[in-house]
Amino acid sequence: MSDDKPLRRSKEEQTADISEAQIAVHWPEEDYFSPSAKFIAQANLTDAGVFERFSLDRFPECFREFADLLDWNQRWEKTLDTSNPPFWRWFVGGKLNACFNCIDRHLARHKNKTAIHFVPEPENETVHHITYQELFVRVNEFAALLRDFCGLKTGDRVTLHLPMVAELPITMLACARLGVIHSQVFSGFSGKACADRAVDSESRVLITMDAYYRVGKLLDHKEKADIAVAEAAKEGHKVHKVLIWQRYPGKHSSPTKLVEGRDVIVNDLLKKYRGKRVEPAPLPAEAPLFLMYTSGTTGKPKGCQHSIGGYLAYVTWTSKYIQDIHPEDVYWCMADIGWITGHSYIVYGPLALGASSVVYEGVPTHPDAGRPWRIAEDLDVNIFHTSPTAIRALRRDGPDEPAKYHHHFKHMTTVGEPIEPVVWKWYHKMVGKGEAVIVDTWWQTENGGFLCSTVPAIHKMKPGSAGPGIPGIHPVIYDDEGKELPAGSGKAGNICIRNPWPGSFQTIWKDADRYVNQYYARYCKDRKSKDWRDWPYMAGDGAVQAADGYYRILGRIDDVINVAGHRLGTKEIESAALIVAEVAEAAVVPVADPIKGKVPDLYVSLKPGLKASKEIAGKVSAAIVSEIGAIARPREVVIVPDMPKTRSGKIMRRVLAAISNRQDPGDVSTLANPEVVDKIKELVK
Ligand code: PRX
Repeated sequence: MSDDKPLRRSKEEQTADISEAQIAVHWPEEDYFSPSAKFIAQANLTDAGVFERFSLDRFPECFREFADLLDWNQRWEKTLDTSNPPFWRWFVGGKLNACFNCIDRHLARHKNKTAIHFVPEPENETVHHITYQELFVRVNEFAALLRDFCGLKTGDRVTLHLPMVAELPITMLACARLGVIHSQVFSGFSGKACADRAVDSESRVLITMDAYYRVGKLLDHKEKADIAVAEAAKEGHKVHKVLIWQRYPGKHSSPTKLVEGRDVIVNDLLKKYRGKRVEPAPLPAEAPLFLMYTSGTTGKPKGCQHSIGGYLAYVTWTSKYIQDIHPEDVYWCMADIGWITGHSYIVYGPLALGASSVVYEGVPTHPDAGRPWRIAEDLDVNIFHTSPTAIRALRRDGPDEPAKYHHHFKHMTTVGEPIEPVVWKWYHKMVGKGEAVIVDTWWQTENGGFLCSTVPAIHKMKPGSAGPGIPGIHPVIYDDEGKELPAGSGKAGNICIRNPWPGSFQTIWKDADRYVNQYYARYCKDRKSKDWRDWPYMAGDGAVQAADGYYRILGRIDDVINVAGHRLGTKEIESAALIVAEVAEAAVVPVADPIKGKVPDLYVSLKPGLKASKEIAGKVSAAIVSEIGAIARPREVVIVPDMPKTRSGKIMRRVLAAISNRQDPGDVSTLANPEVVDKIKELVK
């Protein structure tokens, strides 16, 4: 980064001593790559006039174009209601159903078309091609079960802890049909993490699967449901029912016993609902569609609440024009539906457009790094979407693999972390065979869909840069004093969005104050103002804008670590470490990693009289895995004699991060205990 000063916050606000943005790499400006004439000739959006159409003078009415891609039971009266900032209400008065828009409306013309290709991880298992008609039947029957057996109704929350199987979108869409708010928890998260989310959302029903494949092993997943229910009970919350899908219908694949009166095998019970149909409920545009929990600056994950109308309109428009999805395309987003990317760009966006969407159960490099290219060749996938972490792993394990297969992508996406130009170029040349356009899409769980990206047939691509704001999104970079940093200033600052947009989350579930304070308070010009211009949205990322208007995202400026494109809160990890009885203090720092982008290193000090040992380090690591999940497992647990501290007793994470990243910790003479720095350096060596 050219200047780290603007990223530094005032003393009171400063919670982390080092941010991801501050350890961001220095990438040189790259040359442009142009989209091919062949791509442009077929693209959904080629008219550069779109930016005029979505200029700020036309805000908010320009977004009607987004909502017009959907079928409405009742048209909206007001495009945007700003009477209670920053709680924006989109398409007020409108009524629609998300499930109807993703399934029913395609039946007349496309009922025989594949909606979901489910690809099991074991390569000898057949791929399931679920047509729109079959999806319609399965979603209806399951919706009937949710309504009649579970008693679920519009507005209730249900927690899903499902792996990457077709039953996950089926469950989500069945909820959407009824107006039940789904809250899917990433299957790799622990039972405890699932419990915390079920408690916060007050879900009485938990939907899971007995087992799923990961790296060649059939994992027992049902055991996590037992832990989740027990942990929720400890927090005073009762989960009444656990619905269990079977990975192999008719066979129970988990050694964990069923709990009588609580656990139900969905595949058995569904027989009672054969042939049942459920009318899609016409719901207000601003009713919630789902919650997606994400890490923030405090210990507790926050439930981002997304709406039906604004969200669905946003992901549908961006799927059509940024992903360039046509109804005849086979589209594969290799993310997990347990994250926002999968919600928006495996399920809701592609299905709203009537495309065929691939759901792959396993890891990309299993059994070898040629797997994704075999899947793409067999299914004739022509749009591919993944993360820099996956691209780095595929490049490391099989740099020449893509050349062995006859797949042809017209379009590829990268999302979730900054991508190194050298990795981008491999993706373009080898995976895309020099033919595919690439969009580097920057956005967040909170945003619903893409914020910055090139429009693939209009802009040139620049490796390592996300690009300008998409049509209708007007980003701005502010320094700490709230001064705008113009394009080409060479200075990094805090990226914000000037205007509301339909895909944005509506609030944090049960925590409206946190919604206002975390995203809007910092740069709000007047807390009493009803004018949206006074309420820029602060993303929490450091960024620079080049003279050509392209934004390059540097990383988080707060206490969040982005591991392999997944957000983890430092407080969450530290409080998990503190559960171990021997631990006195814990501090986690982000470390640059060649595959995962960033990984956490954990420093702990022990209670007086205790000696460092491998056992204690192992216990700390295990505590983090059981509290959060394997994704948060630290690269190293370093047991230090003492934490480097300021004279006022604050742990200097900046010093620890510098040591972990092999950087110079700078002047440490003002610390209360400068001598400890060399001792820690010695330990880390
Ligand atoms: O730091 C940014 C990074 O991922 C964060 C959002 O993470 P999450 O809410 O889990 O959503 C990930 C998928 C949308 C952001 O604050 N990030 C996301 N996309 C990019 C990125 N960093 C650089 N380039 C991107 N394209």
